Amino acid sequence: MIVAESLAELRVEMKALRRRHRRIAFVPTMGNLHPGHLRLMREARNHADAVVASIFVNPLQFGEGEDLEAYPRTPAEDRAALEEEGVELLFLPPVEAVYPRGLAAQTRVEVPGLSDILCGAARPGHFRGVTTVVARLLNLVAPQVAVFGKKDYQQWLIIRLMAADLGLPVEIVGVETVREPDGLAMSSRNRYLTPEERAVAPKLYRTLRDLRERLLQGAPVSGEPEAEAMEQLARAGFRPEYVSVRRQRDLGEASAADRELVILAAAWLGCARLIDNIELNLNGPG
Ligand code: PAF
Repeated sequence: MIVAESLAELRVEMKALRRRHRRIAFVPTMGNLHPGHLRLMREARNHADAVVASIFVNPLQFGEGEDLEAYPRTPAEDRAALEEEGVELLFLPPVEAVYPRGLAAQTRVEVPGLSDILCGAARPGHFRGVTTVVARLLNLVAPQVAVFGKKDYQQWLIIRLMAADLGLPVEIVGVETVREPDGLAMSSRNRYLTPEERAVAPKLYRTLRDLRERLLQGAPVSGEPEAEAMEQLARAGFRPEYVSVRRQRDLGEASAADRELVILAAAWLGCARLIDNIELNLNGPG
């Protein structure tokens, strides 16, 4: 695996890669790779002849007082895992390579509306940071396909809209969440959990599944079932931010006429902010 740490190296290596491979898939990450990330690499390989990954802990998407400093950084292990996965090129830039004019001066890319609800309401500016870095990385790497996890459902949808709005010639692919055997969605932030919190954490997914079951049995798509799910989480020891049933296509509030839904939740457990979601189709098997 080739590792490019500067823009100049990336340009040279991308040119060489494009000469050898017709279709290139890109997987941007913030590192501390777990099996969920490796699933993204495999999905990327299904869509292309060569896979490019990046590891960059993007300061622009962390708010004041968030975990930018504490965010786990494991570059040696990550490199070994990507090598093992057969990734052709890793882009591992310092902050100055991604934002050469500084963070404050960087041109921002923003998808209004969708970036301000749910996780965006709790983390103002977060999605602007995500779309800014992803737009820049997509322009630098210029892949035909880019792959993102659907655990961050809102992020995935925002990035799809951004790519469409900017006319970026890239296909945005979403990949199903990879879970621990007890159902907890894999996340780099799970390592913030104490053993006691780790034992409680799977209740987030269980709560979403219970709510999905209720909706499939005809419960109303908003109001009381969401509030009850919040209470269920609070009783289990979470500090829930939201549990919300939304339309899959645009995360608009679901109404009785909507069939393709997604239930999204964010909840704190100790120092860890956990998010998860579950899709359901009221016409089909769910
Ligand atoms: O999902 C992530 O890891 C990050 O938000 C991303 C897409 C790599 C942008 O920094």
